[in-house]
Amino acid sequence: MDRSYSMTINNELLDFIHASPTAFHAVSTVQGILEKQGYEKLAEQNAWDLVPGGKYFVIRNHSSLIAFHIPREPLHSFMIGASHSDSPMLKIKPNPEIKSESVIRLDTERYGGMLAATWFDRPLTCAGCVCVRSDNGIEQRLIHIDRDLFVIPSLAIHMDRSVNEGHAYNFQKEMLPIFRAESSERTFLSVIAEAAGTAEDDVLSYDLYVVQNERGRVFGAENEFICAPRLDDLQCAFADLKGFLHAKETSAAPVYVLFDNEEVGSLTKQGAAGTFLQDVLDRILRSLKISDIYPVLSNSFIVSSDNAHAVHPAHPEKADPALRPHMNGGIVIKHSAAQLYSTDAISSAVFKTICERAGVPFQEFANHSDIRGGSTLGHLLNSHLSMYTADIGLPQLAMHSCFETAGAADTQYLIDAMKEFYSSVLHAENNTLRILK
Ligand code: CO
Repeated sequence: MDRSYSMTINNELLDFIHASPTAFHAVSTVQGILEKQGYEKLAEQNAWDLVPGGKYFVIRNHSSLIAFHIPREPLHSFMIGASHSDSPMLKIKPNPEIKSESVIRLDTERYGGMLAATWFDRPLTCAGCVCVRSDNGIEQRLIHIDRDLFVIPSLAIHMDRSVNEGHAYNFQKEMLPIFRAESSERTFLSVIAEAAGTAEDDVLSYDLYVVQNERGRVFGAENEFICAPRLDDLQCAFADLKGFLHAKETSAAPVYVLFDNEEVGSLTKQGAAGTFLQDVLDRILRSLKISDIYPVLSNSFIVSSDNAHAVHPAHPEKADPALRPHMNGGIVIKHSAAQLYSTDAISSAVFKTICERAGVPFQEFANHSDIRGGSTLGHLLNSHLSMYTADIGLPQLAMHSCFETAGAADTQYLIDAMKEFYSSVLHAENNTLRILK
């Protein structure tokens, strides 16, 4: 068996994903790991007094996080790895109980571009953030109800004989999960108040989601694959974090970024199109009394890690005829002429060199020219932070299903590449970009 199909690292990844049903929980999981490694939490509302050698992180909205390490030598530049904390799911609306025949269903709407069919006929639960009235003010409390609470049932085939020829989903009608019998006395409010450790009257508001709570698995004849919720993008979030924590210290500050709201366009105070990263970099430079930011930024690099599409074995015609990324084939470098992926020749050359140094295989991706495809964090960050940027990801199938499939070897490949990336320093001079260690 190929030793690169590491059960240990993938089991750790699957635990990380299981502990992270929403963006709030992903941030809280990462916070726990950083604190164990001696990272100090900074608050945006306080002044920052950063010291060389210091390890810090800051959280915005409980759902986005930026961690960084201040070099002991004078700061040369930033090496930034960004991924996203959110995934497509159903958001529960306020006052959601709707009587439907003999049951109460919950009113929901789509968060992100989900594959609707995958959410039917499986146990689901509730997780997110509840705002609670307390003696000190309004407190945000995370809840994750670790038992089966909901099901969204399909219509029997006997009542829709043509369903297997294709079905148009009506989200408002069909995608409301059954929560309780009409005769049950446990209301939704009572369940979430109990989970938040408060009285029903003290629940002021919430951002709560219907989530997939089943733990991911390793599968295949030789355990070649993994199957789990939220691989997009927690597989990258996990691998980037491991690389970040194991990097060698240089004169470049390693920066680990986890953004919320990628799945809904990133235009939020905590999203990639907001000012969070810019604000944090600016505050680092001010605290280190660096007045000229441009030399620092011009030698800095962003790797935007967001999962990529492997060629689907049943739909090979959907992929580019020449670029054929496959699972366990290594990291995917994404290209787009429209710059929906921000990779260009220079950033691609840098990232390939990093992969070669790390001994990690890479593959290249561009959309089939007649298929629009997706976009991600890189170009949004570039619109207000001008730096070298590459968009990459790990190859997977069934993106935005509530159970996605990826390669078991690829998790370690990204860890190794990001460790190498975070241990490197870029320096631009006379039309040449040097990659120093
Ligand atoms: Co993604």
